[in-house]
Amino acid sequence: MSPSSLAVVVLAAGAGTRMKSTTPKVLHPLAGIPLIGHVLATAEALGPQQTLVVVRHEAERVREAVEEYADDAQIVHQDDVPGTGRAVELALDAVGDDVDNVVILSADVPLLDSETIEAMLGFHRDAAAEVTLLSTIHDDPTGYGRIIRREDGTVSHIVEEADADEQQRTLQEVNAGVYVARRDALAKGLPRLDTANAQGEKYLTDVVGQLAADSGLVHAVVVEDSWLVEGVNDRIQLQAMQRRLNTMIVRGWQRDGVSITDPESVWIDLSVQLDQDVTVLPGVALEGSCHIDHGATIGPDCTLSNARVGQGARIQRSVVDSAVIAAGATVGPFSYLRPGTVIEEGGKVGAFVETKNATIGKAAKVPHLSYIGDADIGEGANIGAGSITANYDGVNKHRTVIGPHAKTGSDNVFVAPVEVGAGAYTAAGTTIRRNVPAGALAVAPVSVRTVEGWVGTHRPGTASAEAAENSRTTPDSQ
Ligand code: UD1
Ligand code: CA
Repeated sequence: MSPSSLAVVVLAAGAGTRMKSTTPKVLHPLAGIPLIGHVLATAEALGPQQTLVVVRHEAERVREAVEEYADDAQIVHQDDVPGTGRAVELALDAVGDDVDNVVILSADVPLLDSETIEAMLGFHRDAAAEVTLLSTIHDDPTGYGRIIRREDGTVSHIVEEADADEQQRTLQEVNAGVYVARRDALAKGLPRLDTANAQGEKYLTDVVGQLAADSGLVHAVVVEDSWLVEGVNDRIQLQAMQRRLNTMIVRGWQRDGVSITDPESVWIDLSVQLDQDVTVLPGVALEGSCHIDHGATIGPDCTLSNARVGQGARIQRSVVDSAVIAAGATVGPFSYLRPGTVIEEGGKVGAFVETKNATIGKAAKVPHLSYIGDADIGEGANIGAGSITANYDGVNKHRTVIGPHAKTGSDNVFVAPVEVGAGAYTAAGTTIRRNVPAGALAVAPVSVRTVEGWVGTHRPGTASAEAAENSRTTPDSQ
């Protein structure tokens, strides 16, 4: 049998009520990818002829995610009849006649790998079974359907938790919700389902019982690592799974030569790329498409999303979103790099600096307490402490351009659009409203007026007035 005779049905129509969320359960993220994204990747790895995703609850949002992670998957809308059986029944209508076997996956069982499913498929074909399902042994089987086996080891039926009696509830072999079934067997069994059960749903699990009773062959393949087939039904299960997957991701990078000093406090999305000899210190989250080059050090306490970090760069206690930090550059502590920031080789963004849509040139420095937005800072330039690019006139954003090797004074405001030429200086406390030519010094007229004795007259009796008075009556040198 060729793999081309396979269809995959992904069940994603349930409301996921136990999550208590306005976000559909299957869209909750796990290592940066929604639950359903993981399952669609597994489905794709099976190389099926068709992939169908059954949706109903928040159908539009789920459809968008399906499009993002598997653009060739077909969407099937479930009607008002509830239950996994109904979902597969509707999907089956869209399955081609040339399909022999249908793999059924739950969108809320995200860690299952395609190898385990391939093994189940192999078993199913070898045994010429009508249905083969995955089961596992759980210490605490609460919430899962229990597998009832016959004496010969084949499956007799599945009892849902809500319908199980006390004795059945003690059974520890549970249904993983993952099946491969012959298309014709499903076509025979599904229309016969009813909703006469504790939850008033058409249970897919009842097809198993029916087919077994019709003397069809139903097998259950036990998965040893039960975490592979764990389902997400509430946020406690989701968090446990996030922790488990993160531990696996962290260990993978450690094996590949990344130093991660406190794995418990470091979270790395699946899509992140790390080179050898990267060091990740405590309290770091690396999200999305981050790529960190050889020898860079991130942390402690950083969140990087979609960041590109060059060799040997150093980022501490900062937030970086969609920015490029070239080799040898340094960031932080306590800075915020927003989208469009580029720090070129050896550049520096120091403490309490916000940047956006700005290029900090090679070896240029913005060391302290500044906002640099919509700006180009030239190579080797130095921006004084407390500088602001006033980029917004209330309607439009404008650019500030600082030339190479310019040195701007502390507490400057650059009212954009404005340009400071190559090698120019600006004095402390200057508001730069007009372009400064290369090599010039820009300095604002000083107009500080002092009013002698003002504090004594206007703030009499205050500590300030007293201190001023004392300084006048006490000889300061003896
Ligand atoms: C289901 C199984 C149970 C198994 C467990 C494993 C049934 C009746 N029960 O229970 O034996 O132990 O999975 O995780 O199948 N869905 C739809 N349409 C619906 C209802 C659900 O598409 O009308 C989808 C959900 O989105 C979800 C999956 O089917 O992805 C499973 O549904 P869920 O309600 O979580 O079933 P369980 O109670 O976990
Ligand atoms: Ca479930």
